[in-house]
Amino acid sequence: MESPAGGPESEAVSIAAERRWTIVVVAIVALLVLMMIVTGLHWASMPPSRVETVDVKTVHVRGEFVESNLGTAVASDGKVTVRLIAQQYSFVPQCIVVPADLPVTFRGTATDAIHGFIVGRTNANTMLIPGFVSTFTTSFHATGELLMPCHEYCGTGHEAMWGRVQVLPADEFLAKARAGERLSCVPR
Ligand code: CUA
Repeated sequence: MESPAGGPESEAVSIAAERRWTIVVVAIVALLVLMMIVTGLHWASMPPSRVETVDVKTVHVRGEFVESNLGTAVASDGKVTVRLIAQQYSFVPQCIVVPADLPVTFRGTATDAIHGFIVGRTNANTMLIPGFVSTFTTSFHATGELLMPCHEYCGTGHEAMWGRVQVLPADEFLAKARAGERLSCVPR
């Protein structure tokens, strides 16, 4: 039985089709929101740090990002801070030593283009932007060596821009720090 176009049957068909699409679209939105919640909680993703600026023109010659001050430092109160710089196409330092199971604060900036890094499969993950200091605090729970690739496209050498992070047992790390040994795993 054919009903005339625009008749009650074709209206019912179009309402059913619209309802199906509504369900599909709501399901997609719900899936995306769920993905945000799961990845946010699972990876403990961190909100962007507060805005802190640094002068790109003088970053190499004075202030906390001079070359001799880069790498891992243990303050007198025991706080561990890693300072690093990203530039086309390397990180300074190239290899970073951190303790396991202790909070480690990263402070980094870039000198030429936007760079970024992620450390292994941890939640240590930030962009490094010229003129701004990126900072976050995290802890590493497994010892060993982790790769630290640049994850912002920064030019033709981007895919060759890698650093390494060496996670030492906390007591070994602190013994090295107390002995005044250089807390870096790369010769300068
Ligand atoms: Cu630096 Cu990509």
